[in-house]
Amino acid sequence: SDPDLVARARAAKAALGERVFVLGHHYQRDEVIEFADVTGDSFKLARDAAGRPDAEFIVFCGVHFMAESADILTADSQKVILPDLAAGCSMADMARLGQVEDAWDAMAAAGIQGSIVPVTYMNSSADIKAFCGRNGGVVCTSSNADVALEWAFEQKADLEGGAKILFFPDQHLGRNTAVLKMGFSLDDCVVWDPRQPNGGLSVEELRDARMILWKGHCSVHGRFTADVIDELRAKHEGINILVHPECTHEVVLKADLVGSTEFIIKTIEAAEPGTSWAIGTELNLVKRLADAHPDKNIVFLDRNVCYCSTMNRIDLPHFVWAMESLVAGQVVNQITVDDDTERDALVALQRMLDLPG
Ligand code: 13P
Ligand code: SF4
Repeated sequence: SDPDLVARARAAKAALGERVFVLGHHYQRDEVIEFADVTGDSFKLARDAAGRPDAEFIVFCGVHFMAESADILTADSQKVILPDLAAGCSMADMARLGQVEDAWDAMAAAGIQGSIVPVTYMNSSADIKAFCGRNGGVVCTSSNADVALEWAFEQKADLEGGAKILFFPDQHLGRNTAVLKMGFSLDDCVVWDPRQPNGGLSVEELRDARMILWKGHCSVHGRFTADVIDELRAKHEGINILVHPECTHEVVLKADLVGSTEFIIKTIEAAEPGTSWAIGTELNLVKRLADAHPDKNIVFLDRNVCYCSTMNRIDLPHFVWAMESLVAGQVVNQITVDDDTERDALVALQRMLDLPG
């Protein structure tokens, strides 16, 4: 990176001292991660933000929904800053509140709304989390999706036929967790497409389903394919395939291990020297793992380069600009969630933080 920008970032951080707390998601660029006080997946970072009530500014190097969650979980006096406002998440954008409310109404019309517990992945906007809070639901992350789904099914376990889950926005995390961790079959899952009338489903399909999966996906993890896994297995004997549960069901079925970014990191740290790994997650993280573990053979599970383009929007120039603005007494790019949304979203987030484990 540009040495002048590095020096300016260091100087701004030193000038702000304890007033600022910098969070860095594992998919951030090296040049930004260097300045993070803590790094983590979205679950760990949400907890870390809540654990620093003394910091006046939380500079969130990640994407918009993560900064919103940090704002919800921190005190009103604390200001959360996203260095580039264009750092959104295409998956989170696939579930809009209006669409979710339309689906909810359709489920009432089909006579099944009373048996549904809504569960949203952390990768969703604050108003979707608030919808879950208002309607008896919960937030989950890729680290605790199974525990959250168990909790959700228990909420209405007494109903004849059991509870149903409406899961958004990532159909893959929902399907992979239901089928591989909870013992449901693929036939128990249906996909609700918000662009089609009645989600593209008949009333019978809705009544029979146990998992109603929102038609959303991650543009990065959705790129990994089963044929590359076959190719790598043929080329490298004994290679271990390690993927994130946002990958398609087909890819996850072919993998050896599946888990959140924190799980992926811990697995590589614990791996024996000399072992081979192909990792299916965002490329900044895979490269960092390969650099940190030269004694292990680590390759990327795709023929092409595939970064998360919105995570990558937070670069050193944006970080320096946000930090120097704070030093100058100007709060730029503050992310605030309105009070009503915050109250309801906090209910769903708190249910998640209270889950066992
Ligand atoms: P986790 O950080 O929960 O593993 O999620 C991955 C992701 O895609 C974040 O945007
Ligand atoms: Fe969203 Fe996928 Fe990027 Fe994560 S990696 S921020 S889920 S688009």
